[in-house]
Amino acid sequence: MFKTKEALIPYLLLVAAIAGGLIWHETENVPRLGKTVSQGKVDLGGPFTLTGQDGQKVSSTDFRGKYQLIYFGYSFCPDVCPTTLGVIAQALDKMGVEQKRIVPVFITIDPARDTPAVLKKYMSAFGERFVGLTGTVDEIAAVEKKYRVYAKKTPLPEGEGYGMDHSSVIYLMAPDGRLVSFYDELISPDDLLKELKAKI
Ligand code: NI
Repeated sequence: MFKTKEALIPYLLLVAAIAGGLIWHETENVPRLGKTVSQGKVDLGGPFTLTGQDGQKVSSTDFRGKYQLIYFGYSFCPDVCPTTLGVIAQALDKMGVEQKRIVPVFITIDPARDTPAVLKKYMSAFGERFVGLTGTVDEIAAVEKKYRVYAKKTPLPEGEGYGMDHSSVIYLMAPDGRLVSFYDELISPDDLLKELKAKI
Protein backbone atom coordinates (compact mmCIF):
# COMPACT_ATOMS: atom_id res chain seq x y z
CA MET A 1 0.00 0.00 0.00
CA PHE A 2 1.18 3.53 -0.62
CA LYS A 3 1.89 5.18 2.67
CA THR A 4 4.08 7.87 1.19
CA LYS A 5 3.82 10.05 -1.89
CA GLU A 6 7.22 8.81 -2.96
CA ALA A 7 5.81 5.31 -3.17
CA LEU A 8 3.33 6.38 -5.78
CA ILE A 9 5.84 7.46 -8.38
CA PRO A 10 7.01 4.04 -9.64
CA TYR A 11 3.43 2.84 -9.65
CA LEU A 12 2.28 5.80 -11.70
CA LEU A 13 5.12 5.17 -14.13
CA LEU A 14 3.92 1.58 -14.42
CA VAL A 15 0.36 2.71 -15.05
CA ALA A 16 1.53 5.25 -17.61
CA ALA A 17 3.59 2.62 -19.42
CA ILE A 18 0.66 0.25 -19.53
CA ALA A 19 -1.70 2.99 -20.67
CA GLY A 20 0.84 3.73 -23.40
CA GLY A 21 0.62 0.12 -24.45
CA LEU A 22 -3.15 0.36 -24.72
CA ILE A 23 -2.94 3.49 -26.83
CA TRP A 24 -0.56 1.67 -29.14
CA HIS A 25 -3.02 -1.20 -29.39
CA GLU A 26 -5.80 1.18 -30.34
CA THR A 27 -3.83 3.00 -32.99
CA GLU A 28 -2.75 -0.30 -34.52
CA ASN A 29 -6.35 -1.50 -34.54
CA VAL A 30 -5.52 -4.46 -32.36
CA PRO A 31 -8.61 -5.46 -30.40
CA ARG A 32 -8.46 -4.08 -26.90
CA LEU A 33 -8.41 -6.69 -24.20
CA GLY A 34 -9.12 -4.65 -21.12
CA LYS A 35 -5.81 -4.06 -19.43
CA THR A 36 -4.04 -6.77 -21.39
CA VAL A 37 -0.73 -5.69 -22.77
CA SER A 38 2.27 -7.48 -24.09
CA GLN A 39 5.76 -7.25 -22.77
CA GLY A 40 6.80 -5.72 -26.06
CA LYS A 41 4.85 -2.64 -25.04
CA VAL A 42 5.59 -2.76 -21.33
CA ASP A 43 9.02 -3.97 -20.44
CA LEU A 44 8.15 -5.54 -17.10
CA GLY A 45 9.27 -8.79 -15.58
CA GLY A 46 12.06 -11.01 -16.77
CA PRO A 47 14.11 -13.98 -15.68
CA PHE A 48 15.14 -14.51 -12.07
CA THR A 49 16.53 -17.19 -9.82
CA LEU A 50 15.62 -16.99 -6.15
CA THR A 51 15.28 -19.30 -3.16
CA GLY A 52 12.03 -21.10 -2.40
CA GLN A 53 10.45 -21.74 0.99
CA ASP A 54 12.08 -25.18 1.12
CA GLY A 55 15.51 -23.68 0.53
CA GLN A 56 15.58 -24.84 -3.10
CA LYS A 57 16.63 -22.67 -6.03
CA VAL A 58 13.60 -21.50 -8.02
CA SER A 59 13.92 -19.93 -11.45
CA SER A 60 11.34 -18.04 -13.42
CA THR A 61 11.75 -20.71 -16.10
CA ASP A 62 10.40 -23.30 -13.62
CA PHE A 63 7.00 -21.66 -14.14
CA ARG A 64 7.04 -21.93 -17.93
CA GLY A 65 3.85 -23.50 -19.19
CA LYS A 66 1.80 -22.04 -16.35
CA TYR A 67 0.37 -18.65 -15.67
CA GLN A 68 1.72 -16.91 -12.61
CA LEU A 69 0.10 -14.49 -10.21
CA ILE A 70 3.07 -12.68 -8.75
CA TYR A 71 2.81 -10.48 -5.69
CA PHE A 72 5.61 -8.67 -3.85
CA GLY A 73 5.30 -8.06 -0.12
CA TYR A 74 6.64 -9.20 3.22
CA SER A 75 5.41 -11.61 5.83
CA PHE A 76 5.57 -9.10 8.68
CA CYS A 77 3.13 -6.81 6.83
CA PRO A 78 0.24 -6.18 9.18
CA ASP A 79 -2.55 -5.63 6.68
CA VAL A 80 -2.23 -5.22 2.92
CA CYS A 81 -0.06 -8.23 2.10
CA PRO A 82 -2.10 -10.87 3.97
CA THR A 83 -5.33 -9.35 2.64
CA THR A 84 -4.09 -9.45 -0.95
CA LEU A 85 -2.73 -12.99 -0.65
CA GLY A 86 -6.12 -13.93 0.78
CA VAL A 87 -7.83 -12.42 -2.27
CA ILE A 88 -5.58 -14.48 -4.56
CA ALA A 89 -6.24 -17.63 -2.53
CA GLN A 90 -10.01 -17.10 -2.60
CA ALA A 91 -10.08 -16.40 -6.34
CA LEU A 92 -8.10 -19.58 -7.01
CA ASP A 93 -10.34 -21.61 -4.70
CA LYS A 94 -13.35 -20.47 -6.68
CA MET A 95 -11.67 -21.43 -9.94
CA GLY A 96 -11.88 -25.13 -9.32
CA VAL A 97 -9.65 -27.41 -11.39
CA GLU A 98 -8.65 -24.58 -13.72
CA GLN A 99 -6.51 -23.18 -10.94
CA LYS A 100 -3.94 -25.85 -11.79
CA ARG A 101 -2.94 -23.63 -14.72
CA ILE A 102 -1.88 -20.83 -12.37
CA VAL A 103 0.95 -20.66 -9.84
CA PRO A 104 0.61 -18.00 -7.16
CA VAL A 105 4.03 -16.60 -6.31
CA PHE A 106 4.91 -14.39 -3.36
CA ILE A 107 8.27 -12.62 -3.57
CA THR A 108 9.51 -11.00 -0.40
CA ILE A 109 10.75 -7.44 -0.36
CA ASP A 110 12.18 -8.08 3.13
CA PRO A 111 14.75 -10.85 2.62
CA ALA A 112 16.50 -10.04 5.92
CA ARG A 113 13.54 -11.34 7.91
CA ASP A 114 11.77 -13.51 5.35
CA THR A 115 14.03 -16.54 5.41
CA PRO A 116 12.83 -19.71 3.64
CA ALA A 117 11.63 -21.08 7.00
CA VAL A 118 9.66 -17.91 7.80
CA LEU A 119 8.12 -17.92 4.32
CA LYS A 120 7.22 -21.60 4.55
CA LYS A 121 5.18 -20.99 7.67
CA TYR A 122 3.66 -17.81 6.24
CA MET A 123 2.67 -19.31 2.89
CA SER A 124 1.00 -22.29 4.53
CA ALA A 125 -1.69 -19.90 5.82
CA PHE A 126 -2.74 -19.31 2.20
CA GLY A 127 -2.58 -22.84 0.88
CA GLU A 128 0.00 -25.34 -0.29
CA ARG A 129 0.02 -24.05 -3.85
CA PHE A 130 1.75 -20.76 -2.99
CA VAL A 131 5.42 -20.47 -3.87
CA GLY A 132 7.23 -18.14 -1.48
CA LEU A 133 10.51 -16.71 -2.73
CA THR A 134 13.36 -14.97 -1.00
CA GLY A 135 17.00 -14.32 -1.84
CA THR A 136 19.96 -12.13 -1.08
CA VAL A 137 19.42 -8.39 -0.80
CA ASP A 138 20.96 -7.97 -4.25
CA GLU A 139 18.88 -10.73 -5.83
CA ILE A 140 15.66 -9.24 -4.44
CA ALA A 141 16.66 -5.72 -5.50
CA ALA A 142 17.24 -6.96 -9.05
CA VAL A 143 13.82 -8.64 -9.23
CA GLU A 144 12.12 -5.56 -7.74
CA LYS A 145 13.67 -3.47 -10.47
CA LYS A 146 12.42 -5.81 -13.20
CA TYR A 147 8.87 -5.62 -11.85
CA ARG A 148 9.07 -1.90 -11.00
CA VAL A 149 8.37 -2.62 -7.37
CA TYR A 150 8.73 0.14 -4.85
CA ALA A 151 9.90 -0.97 -1.41
CA LYS A 152 11.42 1.04 1.40
CA LYS A 153 12.24 0.21 4.98
CA THR A 154 10.49 2.51 7.46
CA PRO A 155 10.97 2.67 11.21
CA LEU A 156 7.87 1.85 13.21
CA PRO A 157 6.52 4.65 15.41
CA GLU A 158 6.77 2.34 18.41
CA GLY A 159 10.50 2.21 17.81
CA GLU A 160 10.63 -1.56 17.53
CA GLY A 161 11.72 -3.20 14.32
CA TYR A 162 10.64 -1.76 11.01
CA GLY A 163 7.91 -1.85 8.42
CA MET A 164 8.13 -1.70 4.66
CA ASP A 165 6.40 0.85 2.49
CA HIS A 166 5.75 -0.91 -0.76
CA SER A 167 3.78 -0.88 -3.96
CA SER A 168 1.04 -3.49 -3.99
CA VAL A 169 0.38 -4.94 -7.43
CA ILE A 170 -0.78 -8.40 -8.49
CA TYR A 171 0.93 -9.28 -11.77
CA LEU A 172 -0.62 -11.86 -14.06
CA MET A 173 2.20 -13.33 -16.12
CA ALA A 174 1.69 -15.62 -19.10
CA PRO A 175 3.22 -19.11 -19.40
CA ASP A 176 6.04 -17.60 -21.45
CA GLY A 177 6.79 -15.04 -18.74
CA ARG A 178 5.37 -11.94 -20.36
CA LEU A 179 3.00 -9.59 -18.53
CA VAL A 180 -0.67 -10.22 -19.29
CA SER A 181 -2.25 -7.79 -16.87
CA PHE A 182 -1.95 -6.34 -13.42
CA TYR A 183 -4.32 -5.50 -10.60
CA ASP A 184 -4.17 -3.42 -7.49
CA GLU A 185 -4.77 -4.84 -4.06
CA LEU A 186 -8.31 -3.48 -3.90
CA ILE A 187 -9.58 -6.03 -6.40
CA SER A 188 -12.16 -8.42 -4.96
CA PRO A 189 -11.79 -12.21 -5.18
CA ASP A 190 -14.78 -12.33 -7.55
CA ASP A 191 -13.37 -9.66 -9.85
CA LEU A 192 -9.98 -11.37 -9.90
CA LEU A 193 -11.72 -14.65 -10.70
CA LYS A 194 -13.57 -12.98 -13.58
CA GLU A 195 -10.29 -11.59 -14.90
CA LEU A 196 -8.54 -14.95 -14.69
CA LYS A 197 -11.39 -16.73 -16.46
CA ALA A 198 -11.30 -14.12 -19.23
CA LYS A 199 -7.55 -14.02 -19.66
CA ILE A 200 -6.21 -17.53 -19.28
NI1 NI B 1 2.35 -5.22 2.73
